[in-house]
Amino acid sequence: MPVATMSPKAGQTATLQFDGKVTTLPVVVGSEGETAIDIEKLRGQTGMITLDPGYGNTGSCKSRITFIDGEKGILRYRGYTIEELAQKSSFLEVAWLLIHGELPTSAELENLESEVTRHTMLHEDFGRFFSALPKDAHPMPVCAAAIGALATFYQYPETEQNIRDTVVRLIAKMPTIAAYSYKHSIGQPFVYPLNKLGYASNFLHMMFATPCEPYEVDPILARTVDLLLVLHADHEQNCSTSTVRMVGSSRANLFASISAGISALWGPLHGGANQQVIEMLERIAAEEGSAEKFLAKAKDKNDTARLMGFGHRVYKSYDPRAAILKKACADVIQRVGGVSRLLEIAMKLEEIALKDDYFVSRKLYPNVDFYSGVIYKALGIPVNMFTVMFTLGRLPGWIAQWLEMRQDPDFRIARPRQVYTGATDRRYVPIAARVELTAPPEGGVR
Ligand code: CMC
Repeated sequence: MPVATMSPKAGQTATLQFDGKVTTLPVVVGSEGETAIDIEKLRGQTGMITLDPGYGNTGSCKSRITFIDGEKGILRYRGYTIEELAQKSSFLEVAWLLIHGELPTSAELENLESEVTRHTMLHEDFGRFFSALPKDAHPMPVCAAAIGALATFYQYPETEQNIRDTVVRLIAKMPTIAAYSYKHSIGQPFVYPLNKLGYASNFLHMMFATPCEPYEVDPILARTVDLLLVLHADHEQNCSTSTVRMVGSSRANLFASISAGISALWGPLHGGANQQVIEMLERIAAEEGSAEKFLAKAKDKNDTARLMGFGHRVYKSYDPRAAILKKACADVIQRVGGVSRLLEIAMKLEEIALKDDYFVSRKLYPNVDFYSGVIYKALGIPVNMFTVMFTLGRLPGWIAQWLEMRQDPDFRIARPRQVYTGATDRRYVPIAARVELTAPPEGGVR
């Protein structure tokens, strides 16, 4: 592993001057030169806290897993660039890398593949769990509930070995749960996993095979799914990963923490954006509307429309995952045909947006979700399963982050503070003396 060079900033301090008092705060420097002011003792020393809605300037942990340079469009897992991993690695290899910190030897990889293959089946009683849910249930809450429910089947004390087993079970069973949630929604029988198939092929088999006829997995499509999973495998402290860490920090188990991460990922500003992108492209195609017309709406502050799949809290240049996916899109469409109209619209939107001052001045570029939906569509994955695909990919990242948090010597329960802005101390008003308000109180629920 490359040795981190000490930055000249290490050992320096920052001073905060307020109300005539000077406070000295330590500076922490990461291995890529990222600099942070350590405010752990700030409240004790000054009585003040920091305020950072949306956590845009707040580091919640030190982590060795994933590095992003949003300005330069760099993404690395454990030091390896996403471009190289996308080209040379498989999803299970990347999962091992994220969780263990090093690329696996061939024996380690073989062992992981074999263990994962042997844990793909769900307990038969799980069938009743799916049948209790409505047919039109969105697969994301189904997956979140199913992963939470796994905790009821494996109620073991948290020993090292049991955690290792849970990691394998989660990686192994997630594709089965995802495929079953789809099969349930369309009323088809569940298809059992097949041990002779690889990870991505097995998922496609459970999604699309039926007991009525043989189903051959196209190896090129399986490789594309594997690539998508690699690209989504981790992304440092985003909303869902921070949720997994936050829930796990209460010492909730891995199943419960991952289930919470799935719920966080579902939102349209996070993983749910890939579904929104394809719906946006389909709307533009169906209404024969032009890309220009839609972009005008996305820029209009009186309109709630946003150019979905564009913009990112961290990337202020092209998301490297989007660049890889844009190329993969063209290859997949060439292979299976269809959806080329949607790709054309996406490319046109990108072309105009990247010349438009609104997007340029705000540094809004395509993110991973902009092209992934077009590929999923070409692969025949139903639109409401797009975010589930993101979940399958992100799982090893969540696991690695959870394990890192639990082993961190600085581990504490996550418990942010707040700046209270509500009513100050007041006397209780008896019900007969209360007057109905004509408008909601300031800050009250509308
Ligand atoms: N279309 C139009 N305007 C946008 C967009 C967009 N997609 N994204 C940001 N803006 C504008 C926003 O209105 C604001 O303008 P102004 O400064 O005039 O108020 C400015 O750009 C900054 O936006 P922000 O919402 O303050 O930025 P943020 O860092 O809080 O939000 C984001 C990041 C990803 C939520 C946002 O860019 C967005 O909503 N994008 C569309 C949804 C999307 O594609 N999400 C997937 C993110 S990548 C996958 C993942 O990791 O989850």
